[in-house]
Amino acid sequence: MPPSLPFVDLKSQYARLKPSIDARLRRVLDHGQYILGPEVAELEAELAKFCGASFCVTVASGTEALRLPLMVEEIGTGDAVFLPAFTFPATAEVVVALGATPVFVDVAENTYNLDPAALEAAVVQTRRAGKLRPRAVMPVDLFGLPADYAAIGTIAAQHGLFVLADAAQSFGAKVGNRAVGTLAPVTATSFFPAKPLGAYGEGGAIFTEDAAVAKTLCSIRAHGAGDDRYDIVRLGTNARLDTLQAAVLLAKLEIFADELLARERLAAEYDRLLGSTVVRPPRHRDMLGAWAQYCVRVPNRDAVREQLGGKGIPTAIYYPKPLHFQPAYQRFGEGPGSLPVSEKVSREILALPMHPYLDEATVAMIAKALMEAAA
Ligand SMILES: Cc1ncc(COP(=O)(O)O)c(C=O)c1O
Repeated sequence: MPPSLPFVDLKSQYARLKPSIDARLRRVLDHGQYILGPEVAELEAELAKFCGASFCVTVASGTEALRLPLMVEEIGTGDAVFLPAFTFPATAEVVVALGATPVFVDVAENTYNLDPAALEAAVVQTRRAGKLRPRAVMPVDLFGLPADYAAIGTIAAQHGLFVLADAAQSFGAKVGNRAVGTLAPVTATSFFPAKPLGAYGEGGAIFTEDAAVAKTLCSIRAHGAGDDRYDIVRLGTNARLDTLQAAVLLAKLEIFADELLARERLAAEYDRLLGSTVVRPPRHRDMLGAWAQYCVRVPNRDAVREQLGGKGIPTAIYYPKPLHFQPAYQRFGEGPGSLPVSEKVSREILALPMHPYLDEATVAMIAKALMEAAA
């Protein structure tokens, strides 16, 4: 079997950034402020500037970036939180961890993101059933494409729902000239190493326009501290981003805009080569995705995957089961057939290698192998 290509190429990125990453890490080792050192505040200012948000609060992971805003909103027992069934488990996990109930909603086939019409129906049905209070909605920007925040915002306003964007995969994306981080009242992202902007370990960030929310998030991430460190004014947790990770992210942020352009160029090249031989990733006129993944859909997915693997082409399945099929979350769902688009997409989806260090010859080789396998 030929040697496998990297699915995400962090080694080439490090080769490009080595002087900057090494210098920044050395600076942290020299000053020794490993927790909330100066790089953390510097990164928060740079991230806010990058996306145009008023406030950025970094945290220990994307999962914490989702959990903390729900804590600020005091979401808990008896509350319904609406989220797509076709997502990474963390979106639902934080809801259940706080004692609230996830209500799974189907995705739209032309975006793989929360379907606004299905959201509206789910909110009305939940209200009518009278057991849970509709409190929040968590749209997910799957594969880096922003959800339909305009339509979701309208429904949320009508029903008094808090909107928390799960932008774990989409930092860097835009709708018109508005960047992810400013599309919802509160936005959570992840710096998991394989994300478009990834650390060398765990990390995440929350963006908001609300100074009071930002201040409460800073308190919660540090055990609920008030103005004094041992003045504990609310229930908190330990969810701070490491200074070393902030240093890595500051170095990577210097080339992030350039990397996003490379992702877009490679996605366009995949699109051009694949034509209509497979279902290509959704695109929307005024949106620029972050291309966390380049996912196609093929009916004979598992056979195609095996054939590509035999040629040394790695692929991944995000996600093989919608959440209402997962043993841990089945009890919150309505079983097979209840969310048909999520169920169908999870059977057909296949992610191809996508990172800024792919070259066009490799994209052409992958596209050719995919078309042969899918034929
Ligand atoms: C959609 C989505 N939500 C949440 C997360 C959680 O982020 P993290 O792994 O940084 O906790 C991820 C990351 O994999 C994700 O893809």
